Amino acid sequence: MSQTYYVTTPIYYVNDVPHIGHSYTTIAADVLARYFRAAGRDVRFLTGTDEHGIKIVKASAEKGMTPKELSDQVVVGFEYLWKDLNISNDDFIRTSQPRHEKRVQAIITRLLERDEIYLGQYEGWYDEGQEEFITESTAAENEFKSEVNGKPLVRYQEPTYYFRLSKWVDKLIEYIEANPGFIKPQARRNEVLSKLKMGVEDLSISRHKDKLGGWGIEMPNDPTHSVYVWIDALSNYRTALGWPEIGDEHDATDEKYWPADVHLIGKDILWFHTVYWPAILMAMDQPLPKCVFAHGWWTSEGKKMSKSLGNFVSRETIAEICGEYSVDVYRYFLLRAVTFGADGDFSHDALKGRYNTDLANGLGNLLNRTLNMITRYFDGVLPAACENGEHEKVVIDAAADLEAAACGAMEDCDFGLYLDKITALIGATNGYIEVTAPFKLAKDESQRERLGTILYTCADAVRIILNYLSPFMPEMMAAGLKQMNWSLADGQTISDAGKWGQLTPGQQVMQPEPLFPRKS
Ligand code: MSP
Repeated sequence: MSQTYYVTTPIYYVNDVPHIGHSYTTIAADVLARYFRAAGRDVRFLTGTDEHGIKIVKASAEKGMTPKELSDQVVVGFEYLWKDLNISNDDFIRTSQPRHEKRVQAIITRLLERDEIYLGQYEGWYDEGQEEFITESTAAENEFKSEVNGKPLVRYQEPTYYFRLSKWVDKLIEYIEANPGFIKPQARRNEVLSKLKMGVEDLSISRHKDKLGGWGIEMPNDPTHSVYVWIDALSNYRTALGWPEIGDEHDATDEKYWPADVHLIGKDILWFHTVYWPAILMAMDQPLPKCVFAHGWWTSEGKKMSKSLGNFVSRETIAEICGEYSVDVYRYFLLRAVTFGADGDFSHDALKGRYNTDLANGLGNLLNRTLNMITRYFDGVLPAACENGEHEKVVIDAAADLEAAACGAMEDCDFGLYLDKITALIGATNGYIEVTAPFKLAKDESQRERLGTILYTCADAVRIILNYLSPFMPEMMAAGLKQMNWSLADGQTISDAGKWGQLTPGQQVMQPEPLFPRKS
């Protein structure tokens, strides 16, 4: 049985349309899923939509729709976008699905049975945009406005069920301290730890049903209350695997994937994922996810994205970018342009710059030069490498360095390191062509063998580069490998294919068709 790998994205709210931020997490998850599938792991990749909560109720009322109608409409936009961006998710969960709703009730029942939930009275501030309770001191610090969208906080006063969160704080601190890889990047881990050490109150986990117009999951012990949307939403990571068992056809179907290898999230939802979710799991004696990775936020053209500023990178804008460049280039850009974990800015100029530097001048040029020279000097038949010397060693070492680092980088969600190693190999190979000057050797018949060695070296480096870039740019890399007339053998993993010297001399390659024409 191969080792499992379970990656998730946040489930997206359906009160708004999909945008670059959503596409970022989902593409990152897709790259991980594609990499680990190619590495021979048994992968589960989950995404979906978060359809309950007050903000969906309000947004649908404003549009004169029911929450269900709004969800059904918006969910289609997400599904289309994922299809357009070549996202290979194995499941798509909607929190309004019975498989999820019933299991959330089973989770609440377990917590009730364990006396982890009690009835109390809530009075305090609520951020309806974030669906988040805000303490008196934080509310006052932010002038009673949302830290995220600046809208006024709402005063809530109602009987509510509480989860005994405070009881788990010491265990959580202990766990986070003992497991440095649980929250990444490290700065986020420190942030959570110091906030936890300041003390945490019990968590209100129900809403009066009237407030939600009946939309939401009913508390199994009290038909007048619905489950707090975050408890409902976080549970998706387990319910989608068929847990807990409730006697339907989904029972335990995919339980082997738990604990998740990584929950990818944005930095604004760190607390929910690293405090509420693990505490609930601990309270049920369940294993915790291995890692929660919080990435940064995108601005656009130097400013916070907004529809009124005209810099909102919507599904339509993404489609335009993909039309101009290609889906693969968009995928590559998002993960190359900023360190995963840091904030980034999207701009058309940055995209064009990256494209021309990395893809047109770097990789594209290398592929074209290599295939052109094999076509011109050897009639398209790949020559053999005879003797490798110091110049070849530089390229072969860069390839070995990539192979050695790739898997660890992906385990750490360190796309930057992974791509740096690829860029280094591209640079080494382009530099190798400059130094060895095959175009000059081609004029000298006595240098045929040497010329063959050089072109074989370039071709094998290109093959390795295309192989390792496949999770980022699956279609374009497949097209490049086709030009090289090379494909993975049955059962061969991405790391097997990353080893040097797998091209067969005597094999015909194709006339190159530029994959990345320069943009002016
Ligand atoms: N429904 C909750 C998540 C529940 S997970 C159990 C939610 N949904 S959301 O649609 O508002 O946001 C989803 C994700 O998009 C979050 O991770 C958030 O950080 C991310 N982004 C929203 N805007 C973003 C940017 N401008 N840039 C990058 N990511 C951003 O929160």
